[in-house]
Amino acid sequence: MFFESEWSRRATFFLPLVMLLLPRRRERDQAGRMRSGFLQGALLGRRLLLLLRAAVFLAPWRSLWEAAAAAESPSSAAVSAERSLVWGPGLRAELTLPVRYFFLQAVGRDGRNFTRSPPGGSQFKVIIKPISPKEAAQIHAPRLLDRNDGSFLMRYRMYSSVREGLTVEVLYGDVHVAQSPYILKGPVYHEYCECPEENAQIWEKSHSCPLEEPQITEDFVPFPSIDLQQMFKEVPPRFGSKMGAMVHYTIINNHVYRRSLGKYTDFKMFSDEMLLSLARKVRIPDVEFYINVGDWPVEHRKVNDTPGPLPIISWCGSADSLDIVLPTYDVTHSTLETLRGVTNDLLSIQGNTGPSWDNKTEQGFFRGRDSREERLQLVELSKDNPELLDAGITGYFFFREKEKELGKAPLVGFFDFFKYKYQVSLDGTVAAYRFPYLLLGDSLVIKQASQYYEHFYKELVPWSHYVPTERNLEDLLEKIRWAKENDEKMRQIAKAGQLVARELLQPHRFYCYYFRVLQQYAERQASKPEIRDGMEFVPQPDDRTAICDCQKRKPVREEL
Ligand SMILES: *[C@@H]1O[C@H](CO)[C@@H](O)[C@H](O)[C@H]1NC(C)=O
Ligand SMILES: *[C@@H]1O[C@H](CO)[C@@H](O)[C@H](O)[C@H]1NC(C)=O
Repeated sequence: MFFESEWSRRATFFLPLVMLLLPRRRERDQAGRMRSGFLQGALLGRRLLLLLRAAVFLAPWRSLWEAAAAAESPSSAAVSAERSLVWGPGLRAELTLPVRYFFLQAVGRDGRNFTRSPPGGSQFKVIIKPISPKEAAQIHAPRLLDRNDGSFLMRYRMYSSVREGLTVEVLYGDVHVAQSPYILKGPVYHEYCECPEENAQIWEKSHSCPLEEPQITEDFVPFPSIDLQQMFKEVPPRFGSKMGAMVHYTIINNHVYRRSLGKYTDFKMFSDEMLLSLARKVRIPDVEFYINVGDWPVEHRKVNDTPGPLPIISWCGSADSLDIVLPTYDVTHSTLETLRGVTNDLLSIQGNTGPSWDNKTEQGFFRGRDSREERLQLVELSKDNPELLDAGITGYFFFREKEKELGKAPLVGFFDFFKYKYQVSLDGTVAAYRFPYLLLGDSLVIKQASQYYEHFYKELVPWSHYVPTERNLEDLLEKIRWAKENDEKMRQIAKAGQLVARELLQPHRFYCYYFRVLQQYAERQASKPEIRDGMEFVPQPDDRTAICDCQKRKPVREEL
């Protein structure tokens, strides 16, 4: 069913992408309680991360695990609407996202967090409406997602903007929860409203963008200065051949222009939609760059080579290349299309993680296409060890001759993956773009060692957030057996992986990331970006039917 990019997609055209998002954010205007809840959450997450890291490197880690586990025993009290917590970016007017979202943590009358769905959890509900009865708003607000751990996730998508603002009521039965009703003082813009914040610092602050993204810092080290003229000369012959998958962009005055270099550039639809979405939200510095929309990273020159490496932007990085990575087209598209074209997105998954840990089937699980030989080996292992592993290939393209021997497994809906306790994540053509989605479930992820990485892997720690397995899978069965014997530890690793993914894979963090990459790049440009011959203007999507009255300062610079 999904998101590994493979080049079969180039033959057939492509389809059910699965996508998602996550949330969280700092509140400024909202009540203090909410704010402290959020900050505590962030701090706690960081501490937990440190604790987990420490746990791996220091000897007495067992007792740390146990302490962490004991701190979370479930509340047995009834839900207290007043003590329950509500927080998240969807409660801040100035933070425009395709789908806004916020969280609710059920807290008992005894003041303790629920760590499982509370009795009567279905009595929580949310009502979102314009402050002014005179304003009509098109808001799609599906039911709360129960994350099965005492917390809930609310999503809503606005199809038009409101000038005066929104009221968000969070209720338990008829009683307001926490500081409800929340007032989002307008204007509140919808995703397709072109209304960029002119001041990047204000924008980054309102998004609580991290001060540093370690992957971005590392990616730019080889490129202290970027010679646009040289790139203009070198990139087309090196990467723009017939087989090329390179797209050349220039952004000037927050307008996007581009030309395709090579034949395999259909995936520019994903880079286009990302850049346009960002340009609707914030003024992007003038910048000229190249995005490789193919699967593999391309810059294999080394720092000291002559001629030297070029700063090409790609979705996927690898240990033997110097490409600058962005969040993949897969998570990006999923983020943009949540509650629209996609169903398995980074937010929906959070409310569809299957049975609770104790009720999951104790087997390793895998479904996917035949994009790498180890996947076939995994199916063979599974045939010989069905009690440990349930693995199947759902489509053959690269190794058609193996289909007879190994058979084709029926597709399994992604949410059903989480009926299994151990998710085996194997690379596809490059990094397995399913990995972020697997982390968000509450199963343990067993990840194949890989030279490939996505933008967030740097923040993950093996044995803290997932269990690693050798590239050739020779230790996989042993790892699964060992996991079965160490159930409580595995539950803790699964939980830690889920928490870190909830933190890192939030939509607003992706926007921070795109912006930071373009900004870092723009700062290093040795000359002014240019709209080159053959580039075309990429228009914003038509949104004439929606109300969008941008109150922010219009760009003052001359149109080109
Ligand atoms: C309760 O949950 C909130 C939200 O997840 C968290 O910030 C807070 O630290 C938790 N409290 C305790 C005592 O675990
Ligand atoms: C496991 O499943 C059984 C049967 O559906 C259910 O009664 C039980 O509450 C579940 N256990 C947990 C921990 O969810």
